[in-house]
Amino acid sequence: MANMVVRPMTSEVRPRVFVTRRISADGLARIAAETDADIWPEDFPPPRPELLRRVAGLDGLLSMVTEKIDDELLEAAGPRLKVVSTFAVGFDNIDVAACTRRGVAVGNTPGVLTETTADEAFALLMAAARRVTEAYDYVRQDRWKAWSPMVLLGSDVHHATLGIIGFGRIGREVAKRARGFDMDVLYCNRHALAADEEQRLGVKRASLDDLLAHSDFVSLHVTLTPETHHLMNAETLGKMKRSAILINAARGAVVDPDALFDALQNGVIAGAALDVTDPEPMPGDHKLLTLPNCLVVPHIASASVATRRKMTDMSTANLLAGVTGQPLPSCLNPEVYRTSRES
Ligand code: DGY
Repeated sequence: MANMVVRPMTSEVRPRVFVTRRISADGLARIAAETDADIWPEDFPPPRPELLRRVAGLDGLLSMVTEKIDDELLEAAGPRLKVVSTFAVGFDNIDVAACTRRGVAVGNTPGVLTETTADEAFALLMAAARRVTEAYDYVRQDRWKAWSPMVLLGSDVHHATLGIIGFGRIGREVAKRARGFDMDVLYCNRHALAADEEQRLGVKRASLDDLLAHSDFVSLHVTLTPETHHLMNAETLGKMKRSAILINAARGAVVDPDALFDALQNGVIAGAALDVTDPEPMPGDHKLLTLPNCLVVPHIASASVATRRKMTDMSTANLLAGVTGQPLPSCLNPEVYRTSRES
């Protein structure tokens, strides 16, 4: 005991972490209190070469949906890396299998953004149905000269049919919102809900073709995988009603942007409202932005003050647990613990 050396928490002994964007000050303070933290100071993501440079020798990385976490990055980080904590529920930007192979735990933020994302999907649905942004432009352009019986007519939301593709947590929350508008709700999902759950939510399962043929609004809530990449393409858009509106708050690449442009321009469908795009970010001169019936917002579905606070708490907790060798509160590859215990 007499010989025990109490080592101060200097930067040599504190875990080294990189945070790829400024999150809230209290989140950063928590991280800085327990680690040797490098915080990317810009509003835009670090360019890839800079990211690869900064991850070298890290114990933990807190990253965003904008960073691709792949073998190249893991190699650049080196063998000390214990955790990648993503500030998101979606993880299509992360090669989780590659992380597992290297014993790197991956944390995400499920649950805390479900309702906020569903709120936003429904806001997009309402805005597109009632042409809110077009109406706002009409006023700003000083074209509002008198009340008019035939100007800016949109579609009713109430009593319309909503088709939800992908019926996980967020899809179900969208369905709950639709009930308040007396909508009929169809869902398309690999797994069927139990009959009593369908009844409770007031939803009916449909094949993709039936859902597309019967829905006035189609809202996408699938994860992006090779199977869902460009799920909405010329063929599937062609199966929708000409009066229908497509909403995407899932991932941009679920929709083929060229096919969507053609469908909107040629009246194959009536409108689209996109929270996510392909490419992302969508450049201001993209052809979809020339169409009055295409509403685009910059991937803000989880962007409420309260939800971003919860995402901060959860991603910070994952990071700090990971760097100290504790199980992450929300881990996408818990098998890393078994692997490291077995080896
Ligand atoms: C997510 O969490 O996956 C969103 O797309 C970003 O909030």
